[in-house]
Amino acid sequence: MPPTVRSLGLRNTSHVNALQTCVGLSRSVGRATAAARCRVSVPAPAILSAQTKSQGVRVTLDAKAAMVLAPSDQETRMRIGILGTGMVGQTLGTKLASLGHDVVLGSREPDNAKARAWVERTGGTARCGDFAAAASYGDVLFNCTMGTASIEALTRAKAENLVGKVIVDVSNPLDFDNGMPPTLFVSNTDSLAERLQRAFPAARFVKALNTMNANIMVDPMKLANGEHAVFVSANDHDAKEVVRGLLASFGWKHIVDLGDLSTARGTEQLLPLWIRLWGALQTSDFNFAIAR
Ligand SMILES: NC(=O)c1ccc[n+]([C@@H]2O[C@H](COP(=O)([O-])OP(=O)(O)OC[C@H]3O[C@@H](n4cnc5c(N)ncnc54)[C@H](OP(=O)(O)O)[C@@H]3O)[C@@H](O)[C@H]2O)c1
Repeated sequence: MPPTVRSLGLRNTSHVNALQTCVGLSRSVGRATAAARCRVSVPAPAILSAQTKSQGVRVTLDAKAAMVLAPSDQETRMRIGILGTGMVGQTLGTKLASLGHDVVLGSREPDNAKARAWVERTGGTARCGDFAAAASYGDVLFNCTMGTASIEALTRAKAENLVGKVIVDVSNPLDFDNGMPPTLFVSNTDSLAERLQRAFPAARFVKALNTMNANIMVDPMKLANGEHAVFVSANDHDAKEVVRGLLASFGWKHIVDLGDLSTARGTEQLLPLWIRLWGALQTSDFNFAIAR
């Protein structure tokens, strides 16, 4: 049975009508377009991506098309694999689980102590495993591994588990070998995100969230009433839309689409500035805002 608009969890009739117009779901679309862009003016925060797993149908709405989907609805739940057990992996994992997604936290070891403690704290459906277990489970993955180890971590995750997957790359190419402040081990004409994309060409990398502290990533309203920016870079339009939806569900109001994955060179090269600001401001609770 094809998905219905009701099965996607939409409640307000005008939202439903708008979605029907844009996506044509009610006309019994057996395979909805992977990323239907809708321009619908609905003033509400939203989860913008819905997936009916059983039928493999995904509907992703433009960030401006604020459709309210209940996170607890079965169809809006995503399977998320987090690669990384550090502060970023745990913080993103906790947020995603709190939004009703099913999360597996991955590590080099299947029984990592930090990951086990995180599962206990998080409860619900949260689980942990090795990188390959998290990668094979998730429809959307987050690379939250140390930049110098990201290729190794994704290799451990196994290329066949990454095929077609949206991978949000939060890592930074920081080299601490010569102490503080760290330098960038790739820059100018290349980026870590592009290296990862070249190493795993069948995956769909989206660079995002790497330019702020982990606590701000998942709680943008914590600062300046949310009037600050998160950047996205990706070659794959549909993958970018999925990530925009997730970011909107975190509360992000200013999602700046920089363009293709080569634009990650810019956001990765913000890190030397971010580190100096951290020193100057004596806090990591800050972010970049774009005025124009
Ligand atoms: N901390 C922040 O607020 C922040 C903000 C923006 C971006 N970032 C970036 O996000 C990433 C994660 O940062 P983090 O502070 O959460 O953690 P992290 O300490 O940079 O990285 C932890 C993860 O890296 C994995 N790892 C370390 N060495 C490895 C190796 N040789 N092979 C495979 N995997 C290895 C660890 O695996 P195990 O689980 O097996 O130990 C762990 O899962 C980094 O790239 C960082 O630059 C951090």
